[in-house]
Amino acid sequence: MHAYQIKAGQQIAGLELAERNAAAPAAREVRVRIHAVSLNYRDLMVADGKYLSTADKAVIPCSDGAGEVIAVGEQVTRFRVGDRVAASFFPDWIEGPPTRQNTAGSLGAAIDGMLAEETVLHEDALVAIPEYLSYVEAAAIPCAGVTAWNALFAAGDIKPGDSVLLLGTGGVSIWALQLARAAGLQTIITSSSDEKLDRACALGAFAAINYKKTPEWHKEVLQLTAGRGVDLVLEVGGQDTLNRSIASARTGGTVAIIGGVSGFGGEFNPFALIGGAKHLSGIFVGSRSMFEDLNRFLGITEIHPAVDRIFPFSQAREAYTHLKNAGHFGKVVIEVTP
Ligand SMILES: NC(=O)c1ccc[n+]([C@@H]2O[C@H](COP(=O)([O-])OP(=O)(O)OC[C@H]3O[C@@H](n4cnc5c(N)ncnc54)[C@H](OP(=O)(O)O)[C@@H]3O)[C@@H](O)[C@H]2O)c1
Repeated sequence: MHAYQIKAGQQIAGLELAERNAAAPAAREVRVRIHAVSLNYRDLMVADGKYLSTADKAVIPCSDGAGEVIAVGEQVTRFRVGDRVAASFFPDWIEGPPTRQNTAGSLGAAIDGMLAEETVLHEDALVAIPEYLSYVEAAAIPCAGVTAWNALFAAGDIKPGDSVLLLGTGGVSIWALQLARAAGLQTIITSSSDEKLDRACALGAFAAINYKKTPEWHKEVLQLTAGRGVDLVLEVGGQDTLNRSIASARTGGTVAIIGGVSGFGGEFNPFALIGGAKHLSGIFVGSRSMFEDLNRFLGITEIHPAVDRIFPFSQAREAYTHLKNAGHFGKVVIEVTP
């Protein structure tokens, strides 16, 4: 079977198509024909050699894939041939809190991931995908969708009517917008593009701020919330946005630290937290059980994730470049086997 592989740090140009053996599944393993894979910013970080943990050999990249079970090991009980499944970002984090052990290996970084025609995984690493979603849509869930779900409803204890600030219109933020809208939350979203902000409003954003035209956007967030600030910020911006995100949170509110699309350095003043009794909370995707909770919510709300563009398997490098250029809105998907 064909699979892409990349060694961390080799850049997008190092992504190469290879022939890999399609191993037979062991007793509790499942073989999946992958139909679609979605890209995440972390896949660019792996290519750049800047991700948290990577292997020192070439691995199959990408955490997010959805497909069809084509063979099962003799002791598999969770799935049957023909089932539609997706892989969970951390194959070993099933439920409960994160630990060093259950978050040590994520698909497509430390261990082989999903950008391949087939994969073989332990049955516990897989979840059934909602029936109403296509493979392309289901491939958009595992990293960005579960991260947004965790930040809002697992680590975060947000209630209907609460307010949430979302930064930019990438995968995590647009998932969070769609989930927050369906759960009755008030969302404020930023973007560098008025056209993307119009699209975010069409998806139900309460207010939209162009962070290029309004560099002091935290002041507008405060105005929009009558001086109070938002209950929760999903902080994906990093060094250019962290201090404004903290300023945007209400007294006693939370800034969920998720990413750093502008870089992971920078400084912040602890007084900004102490004075407002605010919380910073690190989010690391989520467990399989969070993925299952999200799927149950999707089954009820029938949200269709915003898929920006679909590339064929032969154009994986082009798909990576499209993500890197940040012209997208929501998720970028590679269709492996239509
Ligand atoms: N902790 C975790 O478990 C976890 C999980 C998933 C992702 N992440 C991290 O979260 C971040 C976002 O990931 P993603 O996959 O959603 O990325 P993505 O789809 O590549 O989104 C990138 C978007 O970020 C926005 N952006 C860029 N600079 C910005 C700035 N200065 N202020 C506000 N927005 C800015 C842009 O939106 P506009 O074009 O609208 O301006 C851009 O399109 C990354 O750092 C990623 O590593 C972490």
